[in-house]
Amino acid sequence: MSKPVSICVIGSGYVGLVAAVCFAEIGHQVTCVDNDEEKVKVLGEGGVPIFERYLPELLAKHRGRGVVFTSDLSAAVEQSEAVFIAVGTPQGDTGAADLSYVEAVVSEIARSINAYKVIVEKSTVPVYTNEWIRRVLHRHGVKPQNFDVVSNPEFLREGTAIMDFLHPDRIVVGANSERAAEVLRRIYDPLTGGSYYDQPYALPGRCGTSVPAKLLVTSAQSAEIIKHASNAFLALKISFINAVANLAETVDADIVDIAAGMGMDSRIGPRFLRAGLGYGGSCFPKDVAAFHWVAQQQGVDFQLLQEVSKVNETQKEVFFNKVRAALWTLPGKRLAALGLAFKGGTDDIRDSPAIDVIKKLIEAGATVAAYDPAAMDRAREVLPASERMIYATNIYEAAQDADAVLILTDWREFAEIDLTRLNQVVRFPIVIDGRNLYKPQAMLDHGFTYVSVGRPPCYQAQEGKPRKLMV
Ligand code: UGA
Repeated sequence: MSKPVSICVIGSGYVGLVAAVCFAEIGHQVTCVDNDEEKVKVLGEGGVPIFERYLPELLAKHRGRGVVFTSDLSAAVEQSEAVFIAVGTPQGDTGAADLSYVEAVVSEIARSINAYKVIVEKSTVPVYTNEWIRRVLHRHGVKPQNFDVVSNPEFLREGTAIMDFLHPDRIVVGANSERAAEVLRRIYDPLTGGSYYDQPYALPGRCGTSVPAKLLVTSAQSAEIIKHASNAFLALKISFINAVANLAETVDADIVDIAAGMGMDSRIGPRFLRAGLGYGGSCFPKDVAAFHWVAQQQGVDFQLLQEVSKVNETQKEVFFNKVRAALWTLPGKRLAALGLAFKGGTDDIRDSPAIDVIKKLIEAGATVAAYDPAAMDRAREVLPASERMIYATNIYEAAQDADAVLILTDWREFAEIDLTRLNQVVRFPIVIDGRNLYKPQAMLDHGFTYVSVGRPPCYQAQEGKPRKLMV
């Protein structure tokens, strides 16, 4: 593989930690910095703070060798050629990203620059952040010949973050200087040149020696916008299919068939057309709002983005109304909630539609028995266990004596339920599926009334379809 680069990654959240271990995996020497001493200690001693496939293995392999953890930012910056900023950019009151962590880190970096460094923004940031970082470094007296600032947005998804990093669709480098672009090319060379994929230990995936990763060099501003626009576009795809799903329901059409038919057009593509409860997580809701704010600041009327958020919020209401329509009244009803995470494969509950729906159901007087394969500890922090919020240890315990079973997160485990057993434990065989994990006919055959998203509801023959007025 090419010559290793000494890299410092500041921030050990999802993006920082995954980037740090993956840079080590492709042969670089990495120092990962966090100002949370406790976290640094846990990481140094073998802890794995987040639920992410392959992360425990890669941490075990590289900890103390290719990656070291520290809270000493100055020393880490001094010994590194490239400094990646991967700190949080939470949503502020106006919808804009709060960049105060980025600014604080940049001021600290400025004090430690002793030779030429490439400062790389990896956090999701609005356009011109690159410019601001350059300005702040300049104000702190760093000489222009001692640094360049590059934007290198991250496109990883939670749950598949390691594979997304090592087998990316694309790597985007926004650099206004050729010298800095060259450092980034060297860093990613094992992926773009393909040498990583030749290693016996390489995790197999979409890329390989003959189809290596692609790297696109753009201006800093373009790279910043690529990140926001990509997330906003994916969110738009989801809101679009959800709006179509609501229409499909009114005419007894089937959104799964509609999405399949649309997705077969190679210009549209089949991905991110799964109708359901809407998107959540730490990225889409925040990034759609932040991108809208950016447009507003520039005097551009990008109302489409507001609509994307609006459809997404409405989708939870639509689901709540389906639960009410199926159960008539909610006070005193017992509901099994399958899923708490914002999507399957993660323990993350930030902006999770499942949590919002559960809160609403409890407010409306129902009792909820929830189960999630990974997110229960985190959920307990926002939805403490109580008489009306029960945490179950498996699907069937959650479903015991339930008036209805709600599927709120697309965990694989929830698509493979033993339906005969489920039917035996529930009080009434009603499944309301916010993620379309089942074929309606299969549910009918197992004796369930089945309500899903964008597909005709299926009622057991003796029950009959409720009239609209009952909603
Ligand atoms: C998203 C992007 O997919 C990543 O490319 C990006 O790097 C990341 O945000 C980020 O900015 O850090 P992530 O939030 O991990 O990744 O999750 P996704 O897999 O994109 O799902 C987001 C939400 O959309 C989930 O709630 C999911 O259930 C929902 N979704 C996704 C749908 O409702 N329908 C779909 O067809 C796809």
